[in-house]
Amino acid sequence: MIDNNLQNQVVILTGAAGGIGSAIARKLHRSGARVVLADFNVESASKLASSLDPQGDTVLAIGYEASSSSDADAVVSACISRFGHIDHVIPAAAIYEDQPLATMTDEQWRRTMAINLDGVFFICRQSIPHIRSGGSIVTIASSAAHEGSSSGHVHYGTSKGGILGFTKSLARELAPNIRVNAVSPGTIDTPMVQELLRQEGDKWLSGTPLGRFGSGEEVANVVAFLCSDASSYITGSALHVNGGLYMGG
Ligand SMILES: NC(=O)c1ccc[n+]([C@@H]2O[C@H](COP(=O)([O-])OP(=O)(O)OC[C@H]3O[C@@H](n4cnc5c(N)ncnc54)[C@H](O)[C@@H]3O)[C@@H](O)[C@H]2O)c1
Repeated sequence: MIDNNLQNQVVILTGAAGGIGSAIARKLHRSGARVVLADFNVESASKLASSLDPQGDTVLAIGYEASSSSDADAVVSACISRFGHIDHVIPAAAIYEDQPLATMTDEQWRRTMAINLDGVFFICRQSIPHIRSGGSIVTIASSAAHEGSSSGHVHYGTSKGGILGFTKSLARELAPNIRVNAVSPGTIDTPMVQELLRQEGDKWLSGTPLGRFGSGEEVANVVAFLCSDASSYITGSALHVNGGLYMGG
């Protein structure tokens, strides 16, 4: 039996209002964690916070733009003022925009890199001095990092490949006190991929041995495992949650 007990541990979660982020928030909060819910969509993050804890003692929702270094500072400061320290950081905010590379503008390329990659750097850099020994960082990569992205998403695939390099490099730098791992989801049924599923759902389904798309909860279970002591000897790894869509290393 896996012990996911995160009683009184403090988590910073970005992209908290999203399909996967909200499932992670619910799972970690159920496991006893106090959670900072950071998202561009502060209205949804606040609704989620109220649904988790109407008194607001164990959750804090905060508006946040991932590409802004000063917003990362503000999230970390708010977390420290409210909860005193950090145990886990889960930078899940990302965008997935459609644009073939040949006609991609500089701004489109930079926007994906700024949110998906710079944003992870900013929030981790600011958090690290406050993460208690035994804590962890769990990044959200993608099967796109391992096998390339779907067509029209080279910038997304590149940013997620960067997340893998970031995760493994930082795992070495922060060992032995802080573990750093990635989760690489396959096709998870969330708002992010609705257009992809509408256009190419049958193709992605037929390539998925388990014969269905994943849920945010199935990703959240693995994130909770990587935060918990049950994964105490795992660092620098990417765990795949993809129904067998990708079986490489
Ligand atoms: N859904 C999938 O199939 C899938 C597959 C692989 C990886 N992922 C990754 O999982 C993570 C969560 O994705 P999801 O499917 O829940 O997507 P989602 O679109 O449902 O959620 C993304 C969240 O990030 C927030 N966000 C977007 N831009 C932001 C910004 N600039 N600043 C702050 N917040 C911002 C959005 O408001 C939203 O709440 C992402 O890192 C994504 O790349 C998803």
